[in-house]
Amino acid sequence: MENKTNSSVPKLYEAFKQSFDIGAAVNPHTIIQAGELIAKHYNSITAENEMKFASVHPTEDTYTFEQADQIVAFAKSNGMKMRGHTLVWHNQTTEWLFQEADGSPVSRERLYERLKSHIDTVVKRYKGDIYAWDVVNEVITDEGADPLRPSKWLDIAGPGFIAKAFEFAHEADPKAQLFYNDYNESNPMKRDKIYNLVKSLLEQGVPVHGIGLQAHWSLYSPGLDDIRAAIEKYASLGLRLQLTELDVSMFRHDDLRTDLVHPTEEMLELQEKRYEQLFNLLREYDKHIDAVTFWGAADDYTWLNDFPIRGRKNWPMLFNESHEPKGSFWRVVK
Ligand code: GLA
Repeated sequence: MENKTNSSVPKLYEAFKQSFDIGAAVNPHTIIQAGELIAKHYNSITAENEMKFASVHPTEDTYTFEQADQIVAFAKSNGMKMRGHTLVWHNQTTEWLFQEADGSPVSRERLYERLKSHIDTVVKRYKGDIYAWDVVNEVITDEGADPLRPSKWLDIAGPGFIAKAFEFAHEADPKAQLFYNDYNESNPMKRDKIYNLVKSLLEQGVPVHGIGLQAHWSLYSPGLDDIRAAIEKYASLGLRLQLTELDVSMFRHDDLRTDLVHPTEEMLELQEKRYEQLFNLLREYDKHIDAVTFWGAADDYTWLNDFPIRGRKNWPMLFNESHEPKGSFWRVVK
């Protein structure tokens, strides 16, 4: 019987040490529940929610860093790298940021002052501990001709907020690697919009160093050809690439079944094959890819248990609910 302390189980990150780092998204709960597993198998972590705007900066004059600090301390005490996530997003951002005290919208100048002050405070606090930041998250639309997603950022500041965020982050920590991060990154239409955005930032001299492919994938999509084409297109910008939020959902997008309490044999087999193909492909591009971070550590805790259906169990990781390596694990470490 394999178990989490079994020394015959190789360390996941060591299997990839010639290629890229292997990361996990963690939170204060998972570093307790799965701390041993995480410390053994992953050499990089990302805070799942604890560094987002609303988590660290709930009111203009208050910063709450307790949980973020705890996660950074966990990384340091286990000799792991740490990614920062995220500085500008349309979700999990507080309302005060966009409003004056009387509720009226702030001016662009005021929004930039607040953004600068936020980025300065957060990025400088973790200077030297966090080597890479997801500076801007998900500003591209999934559909339609408009490249930029409607948001308060865009309403108030226009598209310039994107460059500003990178500039402020670079000023705060000139050594940090700065990423643009997004999902559906392998969909050809969205891929091209992401590519065009980042290309134009580079042409303006904006300090962008990498593209984060979130990689919230499933057994069925995206296709390997689309993933390959996305990697090649992004890499052609001369930037570093990372997979920042990898998971492989057992369900198709339109599969709304809620009756399963265990994955079926068929799901597990498809997942083994899928993970093997994915990591074979990623290894082919390891000259461009510096890290592959999973959005979780093991199947007992994953955001997919609540998305897209609240309470519907999913099993997207390489370790099962008891923190034992799944067949998929053995296929990727081989
Ligand atoms: C996005 C965000 C992450 C996380 C996931 C789902 O991908 O970048 O921070 O919220 O959604 O949990």
